[in-house]
Amino acid sequence: MSGVFVEVESLTKAFPITAGLMRRKVGEVRAVDEVSLSIRRGETLALVGESGSGKTTLARAILHVEPATSGRVVFDGTDLAALDAGQLRAIRRRLQMVFQDPYSSLNPRMRVGAIIAEPLVVHGLRSGRAAIDEVRRLLALVGLPPDAAERFPHEFSGGQRQRVGIARALAVTPDFIVADEPVSALDVSIQAQILSLLEELRERLKLTYLFIGHDLAVIRYIATRVAVMYLGRIVEIADRDDLFARPRHPYTISLLSAAPVPDPRIEATRQRLALKGEIPSPVARPAGCAFHPRCPLAVDRCRRERPDLSGDRHAVACWRSDEAPALLAAASPR
Ligand SMILES: Nc1ncnc2c1ncn2[C@@H]1O[C@H](COP(=O)(O)OP(=O)(O)OP(=O)(O)O)[C@@H](O)[C@H]1O
Ligand SMILES: [Mg+2]
Repeated sequence: MSGVFVEVESLTKAFPITAGLMRRKVGEVRAVDEVSLSIRRGETLALVGESGSGKTTLARAILHVEPATSGRVVFDGTDLAALDAGQLRAIRRRLQMVFQDPYSSLNPRMRVGAIIAEPLVVHGLRSGRAAIDEVRRLLALVGLPPDAAERFPHEFSGGQRQRVGIARALAVTPDFIVADEPVSALDVSIQAQILSLLEELRERLKLTYLFIGHDLAVIRYIATRVAVMYLGRIVEIADRDDLFARPRHPYTISLLSAAPVPDPRIEATRQRLALKGEIPSPVARPAGCAFHPRCPLAVDRCRRERPDLSGDRHAVACWRSDEAPALLAAASPR
């Protein structure tokens, strides 16, 4: 693992809010607000945060599915905004997405073989016999039998359908994969199989992942680094073990304290920190630190000034991150 593979610089995505027949713009939702981060070659960067925090929007902006409002994405040394349509199409092959619900992303009227072969044909990589052989190879790679090619998506279980979704993403030999909640819709036992498949593929095919999730047990299993998102911004980012052992943002601390611990001895004695209220709408973003209305440690400065991420390997956007772990440990009920 070495070097930066994807560099995201101050990326913002705002959606207009319109009113009336003329769809006059009356405001905007900043779903992603000046996010900067880098993804290293070969790692799995996990993006975690509550529903509505902007995870999917950030992923789509990174992949240039929709243009960002401002900011830059540099993919393997190339600024995506500088490319013309043809160049963008060529580089797109290297960036693929795996979705939460494979059923809605697989055409129900197409056989699995045709679904997996489609991107090969679209990108002009294989056709005819060569495409059929490649589909066979991809099915084996994701642990499906060769005759799966003849069947339709509805004939498969959820986990098998996710394998089809992964095979289709891999067909064009990408090197960067965004997996948006790829196991959230699956049973726990199936989740483990898909996660270990993703992990095996990452090593074998030298892939880099941006993995979106909200289940901390899943994140802990798959991530090498974790970025915590809150209302469109990264509030903490660190190596996986460091983040789980030494969270420093009050939001991260509360997320971790709410997740069950597999060891019953720890579970019995550990402390929980409940958050007040729900994540606000990004339309009405609180001033200063957006987390302050829910933060038990908020002081005046937090209501006035927005903290930026600071720190190198373990970066936190909180005015009180130095004291937060000790203060919260002392304050939370046993
Ligand atoms: N096309 C759009 N138009 C207007 N607002 C949008 C659009 N897409 C997303 N949003 C808003 O942007 C915010 C972030 O949404 P996003 O889907 O990125 O969150 P998320 O973290 O992926 O949530 P979830 O965990 O539910 O998937 C939300 O407030 C959402 O309503
Ligand atoms: Mg989402």
